[in-house]
Amino acid sequence: MTNHSPLTADRSFLFVLGSSRADGNTEILARAAAEALPADVPQRWIDLNGLPLPDFQDGRHEDGDRPLPESERTLREATLEATDIVIASPLYWYTLSAHTKRYLDYWSGWLGVPGLDFKKRMAGRTLWAVTAMAEEDEAVADGLVTTLNNTAAYLRMRFGGVLLGNGSRPGQVRGDARAMARAETYFAGEARPALFPAEARAERAVGSLV
Ligand SMILES: Cc1cc2nc3c(=O)[nH]c(=O)nc-3n(C[C@H](O)[C@H](O)[C@H](O)COP(=O)(O)O)c2cc1C
Repeated sequence: MTNHSPLTADRSFLFVLGSSRADGNTEILARAAAEALPADVPQRWIDLNGLPLPDFQDGRHEDGDRPLPESERTLREATLEATDIVIASPLYWYTLSAHTKRYLDYWSGWLGVPGLDFKKRMAGRTLWAVTAMAEEDEAVADGLVTTLNNTAAYLRMRFGGVLLGNGSRPGQVRGDARAMARAETYFAGEARPALFPAEARAERAVGSLV
């Protein structure tokens, strides 16, 4: 799997909702962005509230099999089936919600499952993200953006950046005209291969020499 552009029917989107309330601003913004996807591009929506994962247990360096809870199996299969994964997490304490972070922690477990080839299979896929936040200054979400960029870089995924919207009470994000407008074109934007900061610096240095 390499370049996913353009948005054709061979793409499939998994939306992972990580708010701790239903029908919140993050989901509203994510659904606004999803409306612009072509009708023949499959979308799957999973609300982590409805598919609770137990706290992640780090068994990466232990021998033997461990039971695979149904919620984990569903999420693992959904993650591996999608070409595009959309993390829809509100900004909580300047980063991802706990639900979302726990889902990403499970990725670490999946990296070590024999025969699953999680890292190899995720390479080239695209990570997107939608986030609602109460504060007006979008720079305070930099921690969340960096987390997701580096996660995508680690897995050699593409990263489409974070679609940010402002709102506190459910529905308020609809009043953020700039965010709602950005939602319309978000998935049409370029998702470049994610780079760690040192890789990005090296790429810029090469660019300045040619
Ligand atoms: C636990 C918690 C932490 C929050 N932390 C922040 C924050 O650090 N910065 C911010 O701008 N808003 C923060 N908020 C506000 C939410 O981001 C905001 O209400 C957002 O609209 C919630 O999205 P949702 O409606 O999709 O749940 C926090 C809300 C909660 C419940």
